[in-house]
Amino acid sequence: MRIAVYDIQEKDIPGAITCIQQAFKDDPYNHWVFDRATFSYKRNAVSLGIRCQWGRHYALFHVAKDIDDPSGNILGVACWLPPKDPQAPRTWNDFAGDWWLWFEQVRMNFWYGRGGLNVKRYYIWKASQATAQSELWKDPNGYYFCNIVTVLPEAQGRGIGRLLFKHVTDVADQEGRKCYLESSRAEPNMAIYGKMGFKLAKEMVCDDDGQAITLYCMMREPEVEM
Ligand SMILES: CC(C)(COP(=O)(O)OP(=O)(O)OC[C@H]1O[C@@H](n2cnc3c(N)ncnc32)[C@H](O)[C@@H]1OP(=O)(O)O)[C@@H](O)C(=O)NCCC(=O)NCCS
Repeated sequence: MRIAVYDIQEKDIPGAITCIQQAFKDDPYNHWVFDRATFSYKRNAVSLGIRCQWGRHYALFHVAKDIDDPSGNILGVACWLPPKDPQAPRTWNDFAGDWWLWFEQVRMNFWYGRGGLNVKRYYIWKASQATAQSELWKDPNGYYFCNIVTVLPEAQGRGIGRLLFKHVTDVADQEGRKCYLESSRAEPNMAIYGKMGFKLAKEMVCDDDGQAITLYCMMREPEVEM
């Protein structure tokens, strides 16, 4: 299998959604933020589709494919938010992206309902994330933030995740910038991300009246070649 990493195209979006849904099926954060009894795969697919469309314009959204597979099956997905000075004011482009996302999500909620999303927990997570990032993000050069990384379950452990990371960490190294992620699993993900140079920076607890999950904030310093 020869794997290459590409910028996501419109035609890749259905495969990217399948990849994310399959890889996150048993994810602890997903189980905490969604009620599994009322979880809607359809609504979740629409939500991920909106995220992919947004990511094509406002993020670094990559897919991994087998070069020799003519079907163009998506084996892995990564979405990174580009670096910006955490203290800098938001740009018009940021506002445009946020408004587009907000509008599409409102439209989705109107048509599909919440699809099992626990809204209270979603906002607990958002608040914890904002606190963690304001504590950890001090570098004016900004951070490459790995917002999503998934590999299809049957393709995991074959180096695809490493290639998806390398696509961005090589650039981060050249630019002398840090990378950041929030993992919803300690095992095995912290070991996997450790292999890519990430180190634990903070344990982020999201607590809904005693029903809590921990997310692991990890930071990667730029690697300089000697
Ligand atoms: C996390 C994930 C993206 C990693 O992708 P992957 O393709 O399976 O990882 P790779 O095969 O490229 O492995 C990367 C490194 O981690 C190591 N590794 C892989 N699985 C491991 C495991 N279970 N325990 C310890 N190390 C492991 C590999 O040996 C490799 O190191 P090396 O290149 O130095 O040998 C993928 O497993 C995944 O999608 N998991 C489910 C979804 C998920 O948890 N996403 C992240 C949410 S925060």
